[in-house]
Amino acid sequence: MKIAVLTSGGDSAGMNAVVRGVVRAGIVKGCETWVVREGYEGLVRGNDENVQLPPYDNTTILKDVTIADPEFLNTLRFGDGTLLRDGTFGHNCGRSLRGRYIIRVGWDDVRGYLPQGGTLIGTARSKDFREHSGRLKAAFNLIKEGIDALVICGGDGSLTGADVFRSEWPGLVKELETSGQITEAQATKHGHLKIVGLVGSIDNDMSMTDLTIGAPTALHRICEAIDSISSTAASHKRAFVLEVMGRHCGWLALMAGVAGGADFIMIPEQPPEAGKWQEEMCKAIDSHRVVGKRKTIVIVAEGAHDTSLTPIKAEDVKNVLSEKLNLDTRVTTLGHTQRGGRPCYYDRLLPTLQAVEAVNTLLEATPGTPSYMIGISENKITRVPLMDAVEMTRNVAKAIAEKDFARATSLRDPEFAE
Ligand code: F6P
Repeated sequence: MKIAVLTSGGDSAGMNAVVRGVVRAGIVKGCETWVVREGYEGLVRGNDENVQLPPYDNTTILKDVTIADPEFLNTLRFGDGTLLRDGTFGHNCGRSLRGRYIIRVGWDDVRGYLPQGGTLIGTARSKDFREHSGRLKAAFNLIKEGIDALVICGGDGSLTGADVFRSEWPGLVKELETSGQITEAQATKHGHLKIVGLVGSIDNDMSMTDLTIGAPTALHRICEAIDSISSTAASHKRAFVLEVMGRHCGWLALMAGVAGGADFIMIPEQPPEAGKWQEEMCKAIDSHRVVGKRKTIVIVAEGAHDTSLTPIKAEDVKNVLSEKLNLDTRVTTLGHTQRGGRPCYYDRLLPTLQAVEAVNTLLEATPGTPSYMIGISENKITRVPLMDAVEMTRNVAKAIAEKDFARATSLRDPEFAE
């Protein structure tokens, strides 16, 4: 089997561990392993035939470069399109990969990946892949390289794209054959594309799994920020309103609020009552102040709104705290500091275990089995049908839009709702 792995959508800590895990588990199980640079965008662009890499040979590792070689160091710093950086070694080390997006990789190409933040193979939110014509090109590029299995690590949007690609696959192959871009033999060989999804997202917004890759690290960053803010807040007796990421999901805000000892938390799934939240929040905060608390921390999820779906922004909260409680209040938007940086231990362990399961899932896949998403439930790595997980996640957004917040919470996390 020829497996390619790609990372898509917003990056998250742990995506490199996914790539490393898929490549190494794939090699151990006798597969050929590939990476696709720049997410679905790389799949659509494929490989420029005028730009050739030397033939794959895992025995060439470190033969021609050493870390002390100044030219090599320059390539690392300035070689736009080089795959590997910062002391990692391998077959593709130091080579310009400009014009090549689908690349054969070996064991040493992913050395040093575990502790790195972001995604070293690049990611993108591809417009082209959303179009049928883009997906047709992507199918052609995969078939051209003989790849028959794909691991996609991304959030709900990326996994939805994976599901569309999988369901269109037979039609795409037929179209390529009819237009003469691939041969009948290629069409027969590639009649079935094996796809498996891993959820890489700091938002922890995917249904049917307890945790997404990158969410623990982002939560850790937020906790550290709360600690830092707490000491300055207490010194000045100030209030701070922290806006945290999570898109339409309140997981980061809720967990950070509990772990950081926040006074009030606003999340989309259980919104505060329209017209009443101001009073409710002030009452809670005042009760903390009267017993001697010198600081106030309010966490606002970026997707927060009230029960009438009117967005609640950190500035709105600040104004209420300043005007009604006369608190000296500041707003801190943590932004992308939540997303970048080194993965915590769990964002190395979880993706590694899930990557191994992803490879096993692909090896066991038959044309009759559905595409799976690899999740985790009650500390066990699981396989769930990708389509079901994507649909359930969409239903959460639908329930919120319909103001059915109880349903949104139970779809997000059935046990928590109980
Ligand atoms: O989905 C991950 C996420 O970080 C969300 O929490 C946030 O809303 C969004 O991506 C930010 O996207 P961008 O990096 O494109 O600004």
